[in-house]
Amino acid sequence: MKKIIAPSILSADFSRLGEEVDSVLKAGADWVHFDVMDNHYVPNLTIGPMVCKSLRSYGITDFIDVHLMVKPVDPLIRMFADAGADLISFHPEATDDLDKSVALVKDLGCKVGFAVNPSEDLTHAKNYIQDLDLALLMSVNPGFGGQKFIETVLPKISEMRECIDQCKKEVRLEVDGGINPQNIKTVCDAGADTFVLGSAIFNTDDYANTITDLRNNIG
Ligand code: DX5
Ligand code: ZN
Repeated sequence: MKKIIAPSILSADFSRLGEEVDSVLKAGADWVHFDVMDNHYVPNLTIGPMVCKSLRSYGITDFIDVHLMVKPVDPLIRMFADAGADLISFHPEATDDLDKSVALVKDLGCKVGFAVNPSEDLTHAKNYIQDLDLALLMSVNPGFGGQKFIETVLPKISEMRECIDQCKKEVRLEVDGGINPQNIKTVCDAGADTFVLGSAIFNTDDYANTITDLRNNIG
């Protein structure tokens, strides 16, 4: 499966977001990772569906990977599907009716993912594996960019990899938080195929150099 680099626009310069997204895609990124925080499920407050819609109007046609860190999830699932999201991940414990939320994402024509916090186990992700397009394992506590990678998540990545390999269905294994050129190989070797990076890309001067460096490190 192709290795996907998904820059988190959380660390981009929001005063010129369209240009930033354009540059990072031209520099070789595959997806746009869109972190949505509601100051309720997590303490931070970021961007909503209007910004996603604006990126589409600006001309961004690439894959938009929406990570909802919100509670409840259903109203924002509807709004992000309408705003042009390709994939919507949410935290399973943030909804009262998992089946309904999963069905909602799919009925609206998007791919669906579950996000798992560092302290949580893989029960939901494993139970719903047949319904999922992606499992998003958080390697920092959700809320802020620029945090340190939590090493204890590595065995969980391998456990999820095993489960995905057994299910005979294409499910991406995405890891999000604290990834950089120094540790991306370890994350890849543990079993990840999709890598979210915010500060390690947007805080550098040359996105193309950084992305080439990242790809070289994961072969
Ligand atoms: C954390 C977000 C991540 C994060 C990634 O809540 O979901 O996407 O911003 O940023 P870095 O790579 O800086 O940890
Ligand atoms: Zn994220």
